[in-house]
Amino acid sequence: MDIKDRIAALPGALLPWYEKNRRDLPWRQDRDPYHIWISEIMLQQTRVEAVKNFYSRFVATLPTISALAACDDELLHKLWEGLGYYSRVRNLKKAAIRVMEDYGGVFPREYPQILDLPGIGAYTAGAICSIAYDMPTPAVDGNVLRVYARVTDDATPIDLPAFKKATQKALGAVYPREAGAFTQALMELGATLCGPNRAPDCGSCPCKGFCLSCANGTAEQLPVKSPKRGRRKEDMTVFLLRCRDEFALQKRPAGGLLANLWQFPNTPSKLNTNETLTWMEDNGLKPKEIIMQMERKHAFTHIEWDMRGVYVRVADKTPGYVWRSREQINAETALPTAFRLFWDEIQVFDGL
Ligand code: ADE
Repeated sequence: MDIKDRIAALPGALLPWYEKNRRDLPWRQDRDPYHIWISEIMLQQTRVEAVKNFYSRFVATLPTISALAACDDELLHKLWEGLGYYSRVRNLKKAAIRVMEDYGGVFPREYPQILDLPGIGAYTAGAICSIAYDMPTPAVDGNVLRVYARVTDDATPIDLPAFKKATQKALGAVYPREAGAFTQALMELGATLCGPNRAPDCGSCPCKGFCLSCANGTAEQLPVKSPKRGRRKEDMTVFLLRCRDEFALQKRPAGGLLANLWQFPNTPSKLNTNETLTWMEDNGLKPKEIIMQMERKHAFTHIEWDMRGVYVRVADKTPGYVWRSREQINAETALPTAFRLFWDEIQVFDGL
């Protein structure tokens, strides 16, 4: 059996398996391109379990493309809070505005038009066109690359663009009429039996009869990835400044990491207690009591923040900061996860 025949065997094996085993997920209840689009963007860097609630809340709050296009940025960030990679949600809005302006609010139906929207790459365009419109356009993500590398027993690093292209081309050539189901079946297999970070469950797999790595006993060594470059580490001291029942916040700069989101005041080094007091004095703050200190790390794609949090009671609401109550922070303020780690900790400390 050559490699082409193994790929050609995928739809026949996967479609009935998917029909029987598909997980009941909120974005699988209809084929509205808006719903597929939102779910696929959320799923790009976030686990299915985490996405479920975010997705349902997002489409309930913004049920149409026009609602998304008109949505205030604060609310948008709030709906995204905790998902991370906020450029995704900014691009969603930009793309929604484009759909309003260029397509009268109707999501386009052509692959090149969809690919041209902000934040939509080959993966998302492929997913939308196949799942919403049954077009033979593969959506190749990490899960699908893993399935492909295993079925073909290919030890090329899957992060190489050439490997992704070859996967796209080979899968595109065998797409069945039920394109949406096939795209999702490939993802589903790659997320479950052939999933990441554990041994594949080849015994239960619908592809065991033609998967080359299963035959060769190499499935567990695949896929191969290029060695990772390490994350740059950045130290930080984060100040949770409390004056009576309000807390100091700042808007982050308009460019760069976590652009335009809220943060607690901070400085890019780890300060000891004396240095903390000096920093506060230099910034016009009058500390009354250091309530607690805590250490946390947060990893982004290329950077890791090694953070010291200092919870301090201060005497005055020093100007230059925005002072907000707990309720306002919880209900209205999009606070990135790196800062929310400290926020959650002090809520627990305060018995809330
Ligand atoms: N991962 C990426 N897209 C997905 C989808 N539509 N369903 C389940 N997992 C996914």
